[in-house]
Amino acid sequence: MDFTLNDEQRQLQQLARDFARKEIIPIAAEYDRREELPWQVVEKAFEVGLLNPTIPEHAGGLGLGMFDECLIGEELAYGCMGIYTVLMASELGIAPIIIGGTEEQQARFLGPLTEKAGLAAFALSEPGNGSDAAGMATVARDDGDAWILNGAKMWISNGGLAEFNVVFATTDKNGGHKATVALVVPKDAPGFSHNKIKHKMGQRASLTSELVFEDVRVPKENQLGGMGDGFKIAMKTLDKTRIPVAAGSVGIARRAMEESIKYAKEREAFGKPITEFQAIQFKLAEMAMGIETGRLMYQKAAWLVDEGLPHGFESAIAKAYCSEMAFSAANEGIQVHGGYGYVGEYPVEKLLRDVKLNMIYEGTNEIQRVVIARNLLK
Ligand code: CAA
Repeated sequence: MDFTLNDEQRQLQQLARDFARKEIIPIAAEYDRREELPWQVVEKAFEVGLLNPTIPEHAGGLGLGMFDECLIGEELAYGCMGIYTVLMASELGIAPIIIGGTEEQQARFLGPLTEKAGLAAFALSEPGNGSDAAGMATVARDDGDAWILNGAKMWISNGGLAEFNVVFATTDKNGGHKATVALVVPKDAPGFSHNKIKHKMGQRASLTSELVFEDVRVPKENQLGGMGDGFKIAMKTLDKTRIPVAAGSVGIARRAMEESIKYAKEREAFGKPITEFQAIQFKLAEMAMGIETGRLMYQKAAWLVDEGLPHGFESAIAKAYCSEMAFSAANEGIQVHGGYGYVGEYPVEKLLRDVKLNMIYEGTNEIQRVVIARNLLK
């Protein structure tokens, strides 16, 4: 294992860092306030090669690995976790097609995303079902050369805006995971509609939707893998895509630490800058300890993916550890800022609202502990 960045990786990291400073940070607070997705950022990310970079080369993409995707992720999330979620959730929609799709399907669905700015989405959770992913109620009925889809999906990042949604459905509600299928549903499919979920606590620049399917006809050529493969494709996807959530969390924690250092150097109490008090120094030191440890963990998990080695255990540890570490960093960041941290004038208040979601989506941190414990006990 050697995490020394090569020249190309350093350039990629710098590109993402500059992008966050120039294109994301100046507008992040405003789009968060407006609860609006900044589409121009998606287009600019596409222009510079930061949108959907994992699309395989044979489908026209850059074919970046997990380690490189995470390097980008830490930098973009430093700018704004909500805006990063737009790009990250697109990779979440792409991953099942890479994992479970044929080369023909990869070219058909992912090729167009290399020609113009566009997003993908992953639709697993439902209004009445999240952690028990196999217990889904969205039904796919066999109709010869197509599936007829009925049901609803909930909390879908990019849902409605994405060019396609990878939708997981059951062919038999009593059949458990063995009755599930993964279907690619284009955004213009007749019978498909969506509703924006408003008033989120944080990550308000990312679009989260409820998706509704009413007799949506999905050709069987849009099915990923075979009958009964849906759940396992979803699990294999999440084993990978939880790592970019961890990387983004490290980006948030770094932002919290740097904003706290900046503020603490300027703020005086008892006649000296507050950086001279151990109470403040220890908070900064704790943040640095968490960031360095978290980065090593997400890098290890990403390295395992790129090496083709088992990674579900490490990915779950990285996701849970980094999101909780970043929550604590954002919380302490507010404490360093005192009253000023509690209002929107400084960025730390938004960091705390944003990072809370990292502990919930792509599998709650309780589910990560289930995955970790099952690995220990098997
Ligand atoms: N990889 C491959 N196969 C796997 C697997 C994995 N990681 N995990 C389980 N499987 C297989 C098992 O081997 C088993 O196969 P067999 O029956 O053939 O032996 C089958 O799948 C069922 O496994 P389990 O009995 O372990 O499944 P379970 O019902 O107990 O569920 C779970 C396990 C870990 C709790 C799972 O349901 C889970 O991860 N839940 C959380 C769902 C989640 O993360 N949702 C997030 C949605 S994405 C999102 O947040 C949207 C967004 O917009 C950001």
